[in-house]
Amino acid sequence: MISLVIPTYNEAQSIEETLRRTARALSRTSEPFELIVVDDNSPDGTADLAEALGEPCSVRVVRRSGRAGLATAVLAGWAVAKGDLLGAMDADLQHPPEILSSLSQSLREQDAEIVVASRKVPGGGMRDWSPVRQFISWASTRTAHLLLGDALGGVTDPMSGMFMIKAEVIRGRELRPLGYKILLEVLARGDYSRVEEVAYVFEARHSGASKLGAKQSWEFLAHLIRLSFGSRKGRGQWGYALMGLAGAALNLGLLFLLAEVLQWPRAAAAAAAAEAGLLAAFTGKVASVPQDRKSSPASCGRGGLLALSRIAHSRIGRYHLSRAAGMLLNIAVFLLFSERGFGFLASALTGILVGFLMNFILRFVGIPGLDWRRT
Ligand code: GDD
Ligand code: MN
Repeated sequence: MISLVIPTYNEAQSIEETLRRTARALSRTSEPFELIVVDDNSPDGTADLAEALGEPCSVRVVRRSGRAGLATAVLAGWAVAKGDLLGAMDADLQHPPEILSSLSQSLREQDAEIVVASRKVPGGGMRDWSPVRQFISWASTRTAHLLLGDALGGVTDPMSGMFMIKAEVIRGRELRPLGYKILLEVLARGDYSRVEEVAYVFEARHSGASKLGAKQSWEFLAHLIRLSFGSRKGRGQWGYALMGLAGAALNLGLLFLLAEVLQWPRAAAAAAAAEAGLLAAFTGKVASVPQDRKSSPASCGRGGLLALSRIAHSRIGRYHLSRAAGMLLNIAVFLLFSERGFGFLASALTGILVGFLMNFILRFVGIPGLDWRRT
């Protein structure tokens, strides 16, 4: 059974069309379903309108006394859900109900425990979103990936408000979301091993206006920080960051030994030390994210090509590819500074710092075609 929660605040102009369209879309699946509208005491009478569609659209209405926010509304709906598949969708038809069947089908037929409707996979997108709103969504997504990294399960669109999960993902888990982003909470605290994504186009709002404001933006940042320190997976990212620091220290120490003590050629010493530092950071990564969620199958090829493609597709290969720019810059800056007569420590530390900054920027901005989430 599918239990779909629809959080509402002042959606009187949209709610009837939304419930009818959603009931029609879910009737096309072979699944029994219930639509749980969780309304925060909307002054425009949204709850009464939803209640009137109880019979024909299998609607239940949960009325809350105050405006407690989107994310907690979804939790309140899931708390009374009867289904083994729990979903969330907005009431303003920006999330097309017609893709719900793809979400439930993906949970039933693949071994995913979470399926996210994503605007950021091929075929997905945003219709009529202002450049400002697109930038806010992009910056929020990058910030979430930066702070929570692999705790987001490799999802391209962790800001999505439309998704479906198997109920066991959150069973016995204490979820304490803030503001809007309930999916962030599920990804960081839920128990799952595989996430799938289904492309969708975020539509123009049916009527009324978005309730997203400055308060929700602050809540988003507070939520990210709380998850980063308060969830096991979030803390795992800090462990990985510490291993990155250890890698930098190893890089510096080994470079000193090879270049200054053993008098290796400086380029060879810099390359060997940088590689050792990268491998140390990679070890931290594997320790903080044990399994590689979506390792891609090695592509076909012949002989040496096959071996190369296997390495490139392997986790360590992808890791090296994604950090190659920073590594090369580290080596180049060290050699350049050394040749210009700067001392060993100044040259080495500048190289390591510049290399780190390059990787940090590339990770924040993302590189088209390079999937950082799986490195
Ligand atoms: N119960 C309740 N309480 N519902 C709320 C509240 C609240 O305080 N605030 C908003 N809602 C409901 C709205 O009525 C609507 O059904 C849904 O939550 C989304 O609200 P919008 O204000 O339309 O959000 P948005 O369109 O700016 O952003 C949505 O889409 C983004 C992309 O998927 C939200 O779902 C975001 O979380 C999401 O990132
Ligand atoms: Mn909306």
